[in-house]
Amino acid sequence: LGVQTLTPYYQDDAVTLYHGECREILPTLTPDVIVTDPPFNVGKDYGTYKDKLEASEYEQLMRTVASASERHGWVAPHVRLELFLNILGPQAVTIVVRRGAAGPYRFGWANQFEMLLAVGKPNRMTPDLWDDIRLKGEGYFFREEHYGNPGYTPYQILARLVALLSEPGQLVVDPFAGTGTTLHAAKAQGRRAIGVEIDERWCEIAARRCAQEVLAVEPAA
Ligand SMILES: C[S@@+](CC[C@H](N)C(=O)[O-])C[C@H]1O[C@@H](n2cnc3c(N)ncnc32)[C@H](O)[C@@H]1O
Repeated sequence: LGVQTLTPYYQDDAVTLYHGECREILPTLTPDVIVTDPPFNVGKDYGTYKDKLEASEYEQLMRTVASASERHGWVAPHVRLELFLNILGPQAVTIVVRRGAAGPYRFGWANQFEMLLAVGKPNRMTPDLWDDIRLKGEGYFFREEHYGNPGYTPYQILARLVALLSEPGQLVVDPFAGTGTTLHAAKAQGRRAIGVEIDERWCEIAARRCAQEVLAVEPAA
């Protein structure tokens, strides 16, 4: 592990961002919770990262992330649900995020929801069906800036996972930080956050987002 890898790309009072490989950095961290939208190994072009690992290496990567904490909130697409459930274990709870508008067609079916997996008790009683979040693929209704990252995650998904699975002052880690959505949402809610991102282009955007003044608001859950 080179010293260079451990030098933060960006740091402020609440957020530390590393430009690097999360497998190298995770063993040095003690997250209270991991909140993340992982790569799904479906060949999305993230720039540096091509999202095409050997199946066994991909599984190993996800297991490394799972074992880095006892609490998790992950975005889990249909295509990886079986693997993620297997890795996170039987205590993982499925959260369904309902799509407001007609979704994309897959295998002849119109996808009307996305799924999240949570491990760990939420800090307040919460339904496992979320039907007030706008998702990508809702055309005009999804108005968020995605900064060109093909895997950009809707802000409210990550903000709500942070709100439910951590307490103020705790450490939220996103090993696949992308444009820094989790980090920004954690900072806005008075948490500490550490992110790792392999592609410098997304690090730059994440750093810029986190440096901007954040509105300290709890998302409605
Ligand atoms: C689904 S995107 C995350 C999007 C993020 N939640 C956002 O809103 O911008 C996954 C990210 O993981 C990064 N990545 C993939 N493998 C990585 C690794 N081993 N270590 C660190 N980052 C990695 C990719 O470059 C990509 O930006």
